[in-house]
Amino acid sequence: MCGIFGYLGNNQHAGALILDGLKALEYRGYDSWGVAIKKADGTVFIEKHTGKIGNASLPVFQSHIGIGHTRWATHGGVTNKNAHPHVDCSKKIAIVHNGIVENFKPLKSHLIQKKHIFTSETDSEVIAHLIEEIHTTEPDLVKVMQRLRSKIHGMNAIIAFFPEYESFYIIKNGSPIVVGVGNKEFFIASDTSAIIPHTKRIYFLEDEEMLELTKSGIRLYNNTGMKKKISYSTITYSAESAQKGSYDHFMLKEISEQPQILKNIIDTKKREIIQAAQIIKKAYGTYLIGCGTASYACLAGTYLFSKIAHRHINFAISSEFSYLVDFLKDSSLVFALSQSGETIDTISSVKKAKEKNAKLLSLTNSRGSTLYRMSDYNLLLHAGPEKAVASTKAYTAKIAFLYLIAHKIAKTYSLGEKNLTKAIDEVTEIIFHKSKIQSLSSKIKDHQSIFILGRGVSYAAALESALKIKEVSYIHAEGFAAGELKHGVIALIEKDTPVILFNPEDETYDDTLSAAHEVKARGAHVIGVSSRNDDVYDTYIEVKNCGDATIIPNVVIAQLLGYYLSLSKGHDPDKPRNLAKSVTVK
Ligand code: M6R
Repeated sequence: MCGIFGYLGNNQHAGALILDGLKALEYRGYDSWGVAIKKADGTVFIEKHTGKIGNASLPVFQSHIGIGHTRWATHGGVTNKNAHPHVDCSKKIAIVHNGIVENFKPLKSHLIQKKHIFTSETDSEVIAHLIEEIHTTEPDLVKVMQRLRSKIHGMNAIIAFFPEYESFYIIKNGSPIVVGVGNKEFFIASDTSAIIPHTKRIYFLEDEEMLELTKSGIRLYNNTGMKKKISYSTITYSAESAQKGSYDHFMLKEISEQPQILKNIIDTKKREIIQAAQIIKKAYGTYLIGCGTASYACLAGTYLFSKIAHRHINFAISSEFSYLVDFLKDSSLVFALSQSGETIDTISSVKKAKEKNAKLLSLTNSRGSTLYRMSDYNLLLHAGPEKAVASTKAYTAKIAFLYLIAHKIAKTYSLGEKNLTKAIDEVTEIIFHKSKIQSLSSKIKDHQSIFILGRGVSYAAALESALKIKEVSYIHAEGFAAGELKHGVIALIEKDTPVILFNPEDETYDDTLSAAHEVKARGAHVIGVSSRNDDVYDTYIEVKNCGDATIIPNVVIAQLLGYYLSLSKGHDPDKPRNLAKSVTVK
């Protein structure tokens, strides 16, 4: 979602730096962009555009301070006027904003009565005018920002840029913002991926804090305006790991990285897995929560914990979990899964759970993210930066953790490692022979709908597979529990409708095979994904039996299928329409 990149320092090409910073944040998803840059002659250059940055360049002028923004529209359409930065009436304050000002309507009415002139339909513009209004009677900008904070409702990250004073003031509640500190220069960004080419010394701003950046330095304040000491974090991943390298797309690169990531989990994560197993064993009820792909990993987790560890673990999608927290106790454990660690639906439901004193264990791919910092116990996926909007490697890494934790609880850890190693070999094979999946994609690409069926943990795999296919190819894909077929879904099957069946040789095998016959009898093109071939399959994709870890290679097949379907439709699999990588607004 919205990307923010700001610069203050000695480099005289702030414009080019800001544009590059915004490009590094493109993967978050956006539909318009803009910059406000102070030129060496003291004037402020503001430019806004709808659409992508592409090969855009800014006029060349000297500058050492400015701010840019990529907007993912919420309030107000995708227009130049609604793009950020927004300025006040005097044009002395430029703001960029990520989040939603929930009470913008009354604020706007009040400011209009005070004769402020609005030029956009956004909630964000009220911030610039409100700062201007408060500043008329309050000269101290720290106090101005404190008062601004007290008047605004919602989850927000706000950067106020005062070109006249060459300063930035940054406040946040909920939405992430980080500041990188280089050699007498500062970089502000929505996430570390844009800062990492410049510096690894980072400060993750906390809710209720405020940062002031001026030529003379950086100052941190608490919510009462008292100065605070800054403790910096150091980013450990390299700038190169966030590049596409020789791959055409991040999605294919990230799919291809999976064997190495899964191997790394086996080789280096045992200690953390043992700790997580102990935490879960001690808890009075564990609740797995996540959104989208993370939620399907959670659902798979409930099956894995039940079958392997004989333990009931509850599951909820994060956006619904807020309405299920009433029964939580201080001995309850919320186990939150999130690649980014910044998903607002997960963060806000976790906040509600914490109000009930529940403990929080998180599994994220982002050290220092909001969820990471909120957690009582942390697990890190160490999957490297995931830049394609469609989550792939973070999903299989989450499954590997859940699978091994379940085996640890069951005291069958070596079996878990053995099956996971088999699954890694299968994933390697599938990736090596990916042209087979590409051929399948060309056979089914013109169908309106694709159905994916499975039972048990393969039902969770079916849901994730359908999400992968629909989000990047825009083909309607639905995952169903195979047992539900005869309760309604079968009405949708027509001649040649592609139906993918995940049919591992486990307790679901025979029943899933019956479902294959049922759809075949209605003319479906039956695509069997199994270790055992059967005449009922029109297309057979072999995946060797890796026990319950078979879910991993099964989903990798769907990841590749989604990727190739996307290409065959002429889409960009890395940046699917309407989607954002990190969903930081409700
Ligand atoms: O960063 P998170 O894991 O919390 O993200 C959750 C979802 O927004 C994410 O998985 C989304 O569904 C992806 N586009 C799926 O590919």
